[in-house]
Amino acid sequence: MNADDRLIVALDVPNLLDGGKIVDALGDTVSFYKIGLGMLTGGGLALANELKEKGFKIFLDMKFFDIGATVEKAVAGISQYNFDFLTVHGDPHVVRAAVAGRGNSCTKILAVTILTSLDREDLDDALIKSGNLSDLVKERAQNAFKAGADGIIASPQEAALIRALPEAVGKLIITPGVRPLGSVLDDQKRVTTPAEAIKNGADHIVIGRPIWDSKNPRKAALKILNELKVV
Ligand code: C5P
Repeated sequence: MNADDRLIVALDVPNLLDGGKIVDALGDTVSFYKIGLGMLTGGGLALANELKEKGFKIFLDMKFFDIGATVEKAVAGISQYNFDFLTVHGDPHVVRAAVAGRGNSCTKILAVTILTSLDREDLDDALIKSGNLSDLVKERAQNAFKAGADGIIASPQEAALIRALPEAVGKLIITPGVRPLGSVLDDQKRVTTPAEAIKNGADHIVIGRPIWDSKNPRKAALKILNELKVV
C-alpha cells in the first residue's frame, strides 16, 4: 500500500456497506481509515478487521472513558486485533489503564485533550477549571504524555503548541478539523488547510466530509494529497 498515510479518511457513515463503497471509490489513493463510534453499531469493527486484512491502516476512534479497570479490559480486548491507532480521553488514569491494557500490541494509544466542539462555556458547565482553552489543552497534553500516551488528537490550530512541548518529542499529533481551501466548514470551527496542519506539526490529518461527501471522492482525496506533496 503506497498511498501517503499522512491522510486518514474518516468513514463517518452509518454502516459497513456504505463504508465499503467509499473505500472502493477511493481505491489506491488512501491507505489509512478512521472508524468511529458512529459506525460501531453498524458493523464498524467487522469493516475495520476486513480493511486491516487487506493491508489498510486502521484508526479506531473509540474515545474510551471509564474507571481504569474497565478501560484496561476494553483496550486489552481491542488490542488483540493490532489496529494502528486507538483513542481514549486524555485523563491520566484513563491513559495509564489504556497503556496497560494495550500490553505488547502495536496499537498506539492516542489521547483526546479537549474535544474541539467544546468552548469555555461548555467547560464551565462541566465544572472544568478556569483558564483559557489552549492552556488547558497544553496541560492535558503534557499529562497524557506523562501517563504514557503515544500521541494526541488536537485541533490543527493547537498542533504547534503541542509540538513545542518537550514531552512531545517522538510523539504523534493527529489533527481533525482540516479543510482544503474553498471547501465548506460543516460544523468544524478551528480549522486549517491540510498543508498548514502538517506545517504546524501534525503527523497525520483526519478528513471526512470533504472527501466522502463529495461528488468525486477520489478526485477530492488526490487534490489533498497533491497539496501535501509540497510540505
Ligand atoms: O467530516 P470531518 O472532516 O469534519 O470529520 C472529522 C472527523 O474527526 C470526524 O470523524 C470527527 O468525529 C473527528 N473528530 C473531530 N474533532 C475532534 C475529534 C475527532 O472532528 N476533536
